Amino acid sequence: MVKFVHRAVMVQDVILYLDPKQGEQVLDGTVGQGGHAGLIVPRVLPDGRFFGIDRDATNLSVAKESLARWGNRAVFIEGTYRDAKRLLSEHGVKKVDGILLDLGFSSLHVDDPSRGFSFMHEGPLDMRYDQSKGRTAADIVNRESEDELARLFRVFGEEPNARQIAQAIVATRENAPIVTTLDLAHRIEAVVPRRGKIHPATRVFQALRIEVNEELSQLEAVLPDLVDLLNPGGRLVIISFHSLEDRIVKKFFRSEPRLDVLTPKPIRPSLQEIRDNPRARSSHLRAARRNAL
Ligand SMILES: C[S@@+](CC[C@H](N)C(=O)[O-])C[C@H]1O[C@@H](n2cnc3c(N)ncnc32)[C@H](O)[C@@H]1O
Repeated sequence: MVKFVHRAVMVQDVILYLDPKQGEQVLDGTVGQGGHAGLIVPRVLPDGRFFGIDRDATNLSVAKESLARWGNRAVFIEGTYRDAKRLLSEHGVKKVDGILLDLGFSSLHVDDPSRGFSFMHEGPLDMRYDQSKGRTAADIVNRESEDELARLFRVFGEEPNARQIAQAIVATRENAPIVTTLDLAHRIEAVVPRRGKIHPATRVFQALRIEVNEELSQLEAVLPDLVDLLNPGGRLVIISFHSLEDRIVKKFFRSEPRLDVLTPKPIRPSLQEIRDNPRARSSHLRAARRNAL
């Protein structure tokens, strides 16, 4: 049973720019629970093929189950999109006609306290999309130096009080490790008083999530591979949820001679969509087409 349902964002724009057609091969590198995939698959199958990658085993199994009726022409692969080239080549695929990345976390991650992404609910300070490996947020908070924590909060969280928060964390953990989401959120609230609607822990939690999952470095590293994977005429659509990601995509699209940019400015969700699905509010969609170079 699906306990935490994720609503796909900007679906009409995704279909418009990805433009999936019968017989084509399409890769969704962050298939999640298969919201976008549910619209892409019927457009390329039965003649084409669909590949959905996700790092999160729970989300991937939801997508797999909801699209099971399409049989083995819809393939679901547990892994990171960073390895897309290798994962596709293991299925004998060297080129595709469309690639979608819908970055970041899904509703499952923030709504399920046991995943440790939310500063609103008590849970273990984990934050890994792939819970089978890697450092948790607690490992980082309890082991990194004050300087490194301050750097992470400043660079990945754009947190103005990065140093003060890092100092408070180091002072706290000298007595006892910081183990849960609320331990950390309360510690931050004690140094940075709440102002306005944004919770003082928002930026630190974003920074930790990015660091735990290597979100920016994986995105930066995979972009040239994604262009290699596209056939001439193939489309690349990327939805990002904060300015750090969007900047990487924008810079790459502008500098990559093998791409023609289809969106001079990022496409934003409609007011209606933001009202219906608040998670859509920070989404920026950029699209490009592989040219003949
Ligand atoms: C915004 S959700 C995608 C939602 C999906 N488009 C849908 O409509 O259901 C992002 C997904 O990307 C996954 N993810 C994050 N980083 C990843 C990575 N490096 N490789 C593969 N999947 C990743 C997360 O586990 C999450 O399921």
